[in-house]
Amino acid sequence: MRAIQTVSSESERTITHSPIIYIYIYIYIYIYIYNASEISKMANLICLKLQPRLPILATVYPSFSRLTAKANRKWNSGFRVPRRRALGLGASIWLQFMSKASAGGSKYFIASARQKGVVEEALKNVEWPEQFPFKEEDFQRFDESPDSLFYEAPRFVTHIDDPAIAALTKYYSEVFPPSNTPGVSILDMCSSWVSHFPQGYKQDRIVGLGMNEDELKQNPVLTEYIVQDLNLNPELPFEDNSFDVITNVVSVDYLTKPLDIFKEMRRILKPGGQAIMSFSNRCFWTKAISIWTSTGDADHALIVGSYFHYAGGFEPPQAVDISPNPGRSDPMYIVYSRKASTA
Ligand SMILES: C[S@@+](CC[C@H](N)C(=O)[O-])C[C@H]1O[C@@H](n2cnc3c(N)ncnc32)[C@H](O)[C@@H]1O
Repeated sequence: MRAIQTVSSESERTITHSPIIYIYIYIYIYIYIYNASEISKMANLICLKLQPRLPILATVYPSFSRLTAKANRKWNSGFRVPRRRALGLGASIWLQFMSKASAGGSKYFIASARQKGVVEEALKNVEWPEQFPFKEEDFQRFDESPDSLFYEAPRFVTHIDDPAIAALTKYYSEVFPPSNTPGVSILDMCSSWVSHFPQGYKQDRIVGLGMNEDELKQNPVLTEYIVQDLNLNPELPFEDNSFDVITNVVSVDYLTKPLDIFKEMRRILKPGGQAIMSFSNRCFWTKAISIWTSTGDADHALIVGSYFHYAGGFEPPQAVDISPNPGRSDPMYIVYSRKASTA
């Protein structure tokens, strides 16, 4: 049997044994302090209380590779959109959403993003701006090399811990059509060797779409798979109105053309079909979009909710916090919606 690891445990091993980690720690501390002061200056200007935050080392998937160091150099040297500019932009964007979202709770919406329950509140009573509020730079990444390179080698690992996986599987068991329902089709977007569906779950058609064929080939729940880079080609190669459910586990943050993809999701879902986007607080941060790496969990719910809203033809998106042991294992959140029956 293959030994399964979470990526975080790989990272911890790298951190413990490699002397190069001291260089990374130095770089992180430098960026943290530099960004924190810039962010708080900006936040003060717009009367927003931000808690300075960078992804915590333990919550970042990849071992600290050469890629990461290269990305840090790029960021510091200013060849890309400076991280602090993306952060400032993010903060000002969220002010637009806050008028109603904050009505029942804290005025400082982003600052309170880590409190239990806040994620679920994030999509209640949102006043969406008329236009999609994000800019091109919000979808830039530290590592803009082709995704096919990053995902070239298979990773037979799990990206969230066991309690988070169990919570997701339990959630699926509550909302999925019963196993073996004739005519039901499911698409697992950004799929890998595992989909976290309930044990023994079957349908006539379960398609996996992802970047690594070796991983997809090993996924026992799939009846077929497609290797496709959605950031190069966001068109989903399926008929209109052909899927009952679309899932996407801990990967929505890698999509650089989310509106195109969510419009495609709407097209291929049957009326009333549901799209279930799940995420935790981990990511391959060099590959995640900048608006994601510069914001917190509740903001992520708003970001994903905005994709549904601005793609159009979906019911109002909702957020659910299914975190199994808050503070003790990986958090797990769902943002879901159904294709409107009239769309
Ligand atoms: C963190 S892994 C999650 C895999 C799987 N959903 C899971 O829960 O184990 C990210 C996944 O997103 C997929 N992915 C990343 N970028 C993608 C892209 N541009 N197009 C399609 N899939 C992508 C990769 O194939 C990879 O399997």
